[in-house]
Amino acid sequence: MSNYFLNHHGRPYNPTILQSYTPVILQSFSLVTFARISNRLTASMSKLTAAITAVHGYLPPDLLTNFDLEKMVDTTDEWIRTRTGVQERHILKGEGLGTSDMGVEAVKGLLAKRGIEASEIDLLICATVTPDHVFPATANIISDKIGAVNAWSYDISAACSGFLYALATGSQFIETGKYKKIVVVGADKMSSIIDYTDRATCIIFGDGAGAVLLEPSEDGNGIMDSILKSDGSGRQYLHQKAGGSVKPASHETVDNKEHYVFQDGQPVFKAAVKGMADVSAEIMEKNSLTADDVAWLVPHQANLRIIDATANRMGVGPEKVMVNIQRYGNTTAGTIPLCLWDWEKQLKKGDNIILAAFGGGFTWGAVYVKWAYNTPA
Ligand SMILES: CC(C)(COP(=O)(O)OP(=O)(O)OC[C@H]1O[C@@H](n2cnc3c(N)ncnc32)[C@H](O)[C@@H]1OP(=O)(O)O)[C@@H](O)C(=O)NCCC(=O)NCCS
Repeated sequence: MSNYFLNHHGRPYNPTILQSYTPVILQSFSLVTFARISNRLTASMSKLTAAITAVHGYLPPDLLTNFDLEKMVDTTDEWIRTRTGVQERHILKGEGLGTSDMGVEAVKGLLAKRGIEASEIDLLICATVTPDHVFPATANIISDKIGAVNAWSYDISAACSGFLYALATGSQFIETGKYKKIVVVGADKMSSIIDYTDRATCIIFGDGAGAVLLEPSEDGNGIMDSILKSDGSGRQYLHQKAGGSVKPASHETVDNKEHYVFQDGQPVFKAAVKGMADVSAEIMEKNSLTADDVAWLVPHQANLRIIDATANRMGVGPEKVMVNIQRYGNTTAGTIPLCLWDWEKQLKKGDNIILAAFGGGFTWGAVYVKWAYNTPA
């Protein structure tokens, strides 16, 4: 007989007693099983997610149009529009103004919209490749300027994928229950590192900032999944040659224009088309989403042709793709939150949204978001 049916003296149970206990044993087993199943169900229903509860953006008022660029370099409005999709971009002008100043405007608008004080922010993350200074972090400067006295803050450097990296990182602190209010900023003053005599790069980039607020949610909406990737071997095609520890600033680096964006467009274009399309399809497949399930694709705004390739690969029609590259150009870390800001009124609670980006590094990725609110009319 099995040891299970021996009493504490090591002798077998009286079969009559065992028989009388059977309903109790079965009952307690089914109660335990029921409790386990219901615990699992409750845990999955009340899983803490990081919901985007507000979005805001800022674009500096000065414009640089394709027609302005025609007067500066050997290019045409027609070439720029057909090869990239850009018509105009915003440029931050003014003595002593930097990326943090645009971030500050975006975050102030965010807080006003949500009706909360800066002192309520637990953490502020800023994605940027054009920080105010090499150090301290631009996030620290934004926090100081808005009075986020209880927040700690840091920057993320992942070029055009920076906002997605920051969003995925910030969401972890909400999901663990550690923090309640996290601000994620994507901001770049690209005009500070663009050579306006280089027609290959100056036509693409613009300045701008966007920000989102992350808060805990238990209603099944929020950031559902992310796939993030990087491949440092791509750095040769898109980088800033000098100003870092390998080649500190010198008269020579300035004379050689090595503090500007260097881009070998073709290899970046090819890697971006493949990277952004692959990862967007991968996140759909991983989450069993069909093209019909996807309400919106929010692609990084680098080039209209890269955006089209991504949408085609996902099987998503142009009516579901957010595109504002015509008006802003490529604002690097700013593009995705600026799209969400522009389309905010059209977003509905529960919408499945795929955010996708590709950038210098190389870095790329996709984030799957279930939109958490309806914007009041
Ligand atoms: C930069 C980019 C727009 C250039 O477009 P492209 O179709 O690749 O153009 P190419 O670099 O092959 O250049 C084609 C021709 O146009 C010329 N050209 C380049 N810039 C030009 C401009 N602004 N105006 C007119 N002609 C231009 C080139 O000199 C070249 O001339 P050639 O054939 O006589 O040599 C494109 O490569 C791109 O978008 N790359 C990726 C950008 C990106 O995603 N960035 C990273 C993510 S942030």
